[in-house]
Amino acid sequence: MPNARHVLALLKTHIRGDDQEFMSVAMQVAAQEARQGHTKLAEQIRELIDRAKLERTHSQQRLLVLEPKGDLASLVTLQEPTARLASLVLPTELEARLRRVLLEYRQQRRLREHDLQPRRKLLFVGAPGTGKTTAAAAMAAELHIPLLVARLEGIITKFMGETAAKLRTIFDAMTIRAGVYLFDEFDALGTRRNQANDVGEIRRVLNSFLQFLEKDTSDSLVIAATNHPELLDRALFRRFDDIIEFAAPDRELAEALMRSRLANFELHELCWSELLAEGEGLSQAELVRASDDAAKDAVLAESSTVAHDRLLAAIRERKRTHPSDSH
Ligand SMILES: Nc1ncnc2c1ncn2[C@@H]1O[C@H](COP(=O)(O)OP(=O)(O)O)[C@@H](O)[C@H]1O
Ligand SMILES: [Mg+2]
Repeated sequence: MPNARHVLALLKTHIRGDDQEFMSVAMQVAAQEARQGHTKLAEQIRELIDRAKLERTHSQQRLLVLEPKGDLASLVTLQEPTARLASLVLPTELEARLRRVLLEYRQQRRLREHDLQPRRKLLFVGAPGTGKTTAAAAMAAELHIPLLVARLEGIITKFMGETAAKLRTIFDAMTIRAGVYLFDEFDALGTRRNQANDVGEIRRVLNSFLQFLEKDTSDSLVIAATNHPELLDRALFRRFDDIIEFAAPDRELAEALMRSRLANFELHELCWSELLAEGEGLSQAELVRASDDAAKDAVLAESSTVAHDRLLAAIRERKRTHPSDSH
């Protein structure tokens, strides 16, 4: 039988959503069984692994078929499926709100039979690095549909007067292929309003967007993400089924985030109260990067233990380059 160490490794890789590592641990279990003379069991495990790998290639191929073509290719990028929601570290309330969207999406037929509309048009609001894109990607992974990202700022700059037509292309695509359509940098439709020469164009684009959004009855999830809610019209908020706010983590969440990122290391040397005081105000992205830096130091020092001083230094470094200091 697999030993507790294997079970632990399997659980950790599963929670992280790391398929490849999960399979490699499973292979180790098969090898161990074979060594102990349990050839039938070993064979069974290997067969299951092969089948899982084959299925994965197939689903990747399916996604390749979905690669945007033609006009659409210059407007959206397809992102690889990522971690599931469970592997993210989220405040309870935020996770519940995201799960509510997933539930309504999955049960949309039932809701529609009763003349109810699922929450499908969302506005994600929050500072850079607080997990908006990550959450959108995780929702796509949960629903087994692709994530297609449109960067509004880039589209507006590139296509100028044609932007509204380009938006139509994207909204048309939503009806053809269900997906999570993430309109990133949505504040681009607000920021430039006060620059005289762009006012007319931005307003037209915003109005088109809102019209398309209102008319859209596709099976896609539409998410607009913004770092700057203050640049958006309050009236605009009403156009979405749900406004979901993202924020930098509190201490408890920051610790959970770093622990999860450093799950494969010994952490007994860490003095959390000092680390968390130092990391106050850092975003999820910055905490993840600090954790990764400290993890790299451990690996390069051929140690399985993350050193307190290294992690503290990594957090300080992130603090120095914190965006709110430079803005
Ligand atoms: N809830 C979370 N759990 C785990 N990691 C997260 C979480 N939120 C953000 N991250 C990490 O931070 C990075 C940046 O997050 P991202 O989603 O790009 O932020 P945003 O889109 O809000 O700017 C991600 O690549 C991920 O590593
Ligand atoms: Mg983002």
